[in-house]
Amino acid sequence: MQSILFVCLGNICRSPIAEGVARRLIEQRGHNIVVDSAGTGNWHVGETPCEHSVAVARNHDVDISQLRARQVKKADFTTFDLIVALDQSNYRDLKALGCQNLVKLGDYGHGGADVPDPYFFDGFEGFENVYTMIESCVKELLNR
Ligand code: 4NP
Repeated sequence: MQSILFVCLGNICRSPIAEGVARRLIEQRGHNIVVDSAGTGNWHVGETPCEHSVAVARNHDVDISQLRARQVKKADFTTFDLIVALDQSNYRDLKALGCQNLVKLGDYGHGGADVPDPYFFDGFEGFENVYTMIESCVKELLNR
């Protein structure tokens, strides 16, 4: 596998964390895999990740502050070897767009659970849990 695209809804909370975690692990392991992230929606295109995602990642020595949100496009389905949806609704939306090389991040741990959408969380609480879920699943994904 040479390239992975992580996709959530807004590309400002969950998939930027997945991209940052994956990039750091790939660097640490000396692998040569391209990673990126995108959202199914376009509301936040061009924005930096949400402040709580930046903070939780920074707490784990992962800098995602330079990332900018973009919307997924059909060309991504051929550009990337693997598309990884953060939850079931992202998975469904991507399937509806014709994405074939598609998995859910939960396929790699946490009993197949969706990574909960933290956008409507009240404050920072919950982001640590989201980070932990993402990190363990991304590790397992990169181990395969
Ligand atoms: P994400 O979170 O999908 O993890 O980036 C969200 C960000 C924005 C919205 C929903 C979820 N929104 O509705 O704008």
